[in-house]
Amino acid sequence: MRHLLSVDDLSVQDMERVFSLSDHFTEVSQRPIPKVPALRGKTVAMMFFEDSTRTRLSFEAAARRLSADVMCFSVSTSAVSKGESLRDTVATLSAMGTHAMVVRHRSAGVPQQVAAWSDVSVVNAGDGWHEHPTQALLDCYTIRDRLGTVADRHIVILGDVKHSRVARSCVKAFVALDAKVTLVAPATLLPPAVETWPVDVSFELDSVLSDCDVVYGLRVQTERQTQALLPSLREYTAQWGLTVQRANCLGVGALVMHPGPVNRGVEIAPEVLDRPNTVLNEQVRHGVSIRMAVLYLLLGAEGAES
Ligand code: NCD
Repeated sequence: MRHLLSVDDLSVQDMERVFSLSDHFTEVSQRPIPKVPALRGKTVAMMFFEDSTRTRLSFEAAARRLSADVMCFSVSTSAVSKGESLRDTVATLSAMGTHAMVVRHRSAGVPQQVAAWSDVSVVNAGDGWHEHPTQALLDCYTIRDRLGTVADRHIVILGDVKHSRVARSCVKAFVALDAKVTLVAPATLLPPAVETWPVDVSFELDSVLSDCDVVYGLRVQTERQTQALLPSLREYTAQWGLTVQRANCLGVGALVMHPGPVNRGVEIAPEVLDRPNTVLNEQVRHGVSIRMAVLYLLLGAEGAES
């Protein structure tokens, strides 16, 4: 594997390899000194053209735990704010001798473009509404960890599917691993051509809750003009929010997931966020070991499993 741009780049065997490496790196992360020398001498550039907390910090932690050097770039403190083009920015970072670039951008397709321009490995850390493959991997890993397997699980993806790169990557990964997926959203927040997706669609949240293994909430992406598509956030919560009353209808052991950041009280009630089967922090924790596994596989180092 040279790049990770889309879940389509991964076979089921590749995903299983990422999960078993991640098991190992989870153990590494629990050591008093959570570090292995696997990527010593390699440099990973974090190229975040769009804001991020979890994804950027966990890629950074992952690279450092593998002993790679990390170069961090952010738009507001770089020459991009002076108008430097994407192509020149990529050429500049390549010239400094990076081995991998982790790219997030508000436009779909930018990581693919970066991969075409440079000869280093590129990881898509979220491009527009398109994909976010490492998020899908860490979500599958979290379900596998909690429920034993992703296969045959019924996963409800709830909310702003239209603007969600996470939903696009997760649907591909969940279906590849043989889960059944139901999208639940207001009609205005469903993606175009949803009938071509390998999923069921429902407008009745209450009727699917008792019958699912996972409710995966998505953030209402207000920065992508979602509000024009909704009467109000209050009405959104009344009809589509995971309120305490709705969470009480979930089966025993059903998980509540969300990629973060959460609009507290909009997609999920604060009380529901604190329940033991709400696994947002586990998703974040697994994000580090999954990203260690991905960087390890891409940079092809030897000796990680020491
Ligand atoms: C998501 C993203 O940026 O795509 N967050 C994440 O990476 N954990 C989802 C979101 O912003 O709603």
